[in-house]
Amino acid sequence: MIGHLIAPHGGALVDCTGERPADVESLEVVTLTSREASDLDMLASGALSPLTGFMGSADYRGVLDEMRLGSGLPWALPVCLAVPAAPRGDRVALADEGGRLLAVLDVEETYSYDKEREAERCFRTTEDAHPGVARLYAQHDLYLAGPVTVFERQRPGFPELHRDPKDTRALFAERGWKRVVGFQTRNPIHRAHEYLTKCALETVDGLLIHPLVGETKSDDVPASVRVKAYEVLIDGYYPRDRVVVSAFPAAMRYAGPREAIWHALCRKNYGCSHFIVGRDHAGVGSYYGSYDAQLIFDEFEAHELDIEPMFFEHSFWCKPCGQMASAKTCPHSGDDHVFLSGTKVRELLSGGELPPAEFSRPEVARVLIEAYRGS
Ligand code: ADX
Repeated sequence: MIGHLIAPHGGALVDCTGERPADVESLEVVTLTSREASDLDMLASGALSPLTGFMGSADYRGVLDEMRLGSGLPWALPVCLAVPAAPRGDRVALADEGGRLLAVLDVEETYSYDKEREAERCFRTTEDAHPGVARLYAQHDLYLAGPVTVFERQRPGFPELHRDPKDTRALFAERGWKRVVGFQTRNPIHRAHEYLTKCALETVDGLLIHPLVGETKSDDVPASVRVKAYEVLIDGYYPRDRVVVSAFPAAMRYAGPREAIWHALCRKNYGCSHFIVGRDHAGVGSYYGSYDAQLIFDEFEAHELDIEPMFFEHSFWCKPCGQMASAKTCPHSGDDHVFLSGTKVRELLSGGELPPAEFSRPEVARVLIEAYRGS
């Protein structure tokens, strides 16, 4: 049955897990940031297939210049480990911020890199007001590269939502799904998101709601609150047998277009044949045009990515139409559309007021109000 699903990127799911080496305690330790630790865990599970470790300079350069690994396979964002100095030995232990040993890395290369250049290529800006750029500028000056062997997986923040690519693939196969659409989100699911996911689901077998639960910027709604909101929404408004909700353990980069490609390739590894890309996917502030994250897919031949993007225009509730719509499907003017800015929504929620049902399901809004009251 698994043969019916899309193949992983590069052809096979990578497994970077292995035994804990007996001498691991004697190795030099490299401490990972929380983003690097989530990348490591995704390497372990095969979510970043075909990567088997932190990138060397040939892959890194290829990704920056051409959005391709050294092998020519498409890949849009660096997956690199920043260190202050080259290690002494040819093997290091990798630990999380709490000092827990997670993996070993067999050192292939330590190389310097140009932060501004990486910022310009990946984020399309060198301004440190951009959260991804700020993170890049703050990290160590060298990249350490080599394959990893992970013997201690991250403790999942949401164990009930934890599923590795092999698990989602097994689940899709069990349900007899072949065409599965993945939905990335770092937000509570409001009506616009619901609309995209349901429109997409109309044309495929199943929907993977795959909220990102790794590190996000501090003013994004925390994953713990979002997870509660997803539960009430799915209980009330989605058919259980057509939907899988699972956590995507990545950290947000806020790299807009390039991150859309990266998100799509990761979801391909989880078994998705389709991937939703709406307005300003993975964007932040006004760094990217509303549809840049869709246009970037034109830079590849469809067969190279294999996973098929499903593009959506900016969606809203239209009063005369009496339904969700977009400029593609609605003839009415902006005055007829329910639009609320993020600031306005936060204002309403923190004042204990429900935003209109045309914007958010009341069950979801109530979870958010509770969270705002508690904070
Ligand atoms: S993201 O950083 O994960 O992209 P968000 O959770 O807001 O942010 O968006 C999830 C997905 O829904 C993205 O593909 C985004 O483009 C899309 N999206 C969000 N809001 C809208 C909207 N009103 N209309 C169309 N697409 C949207």
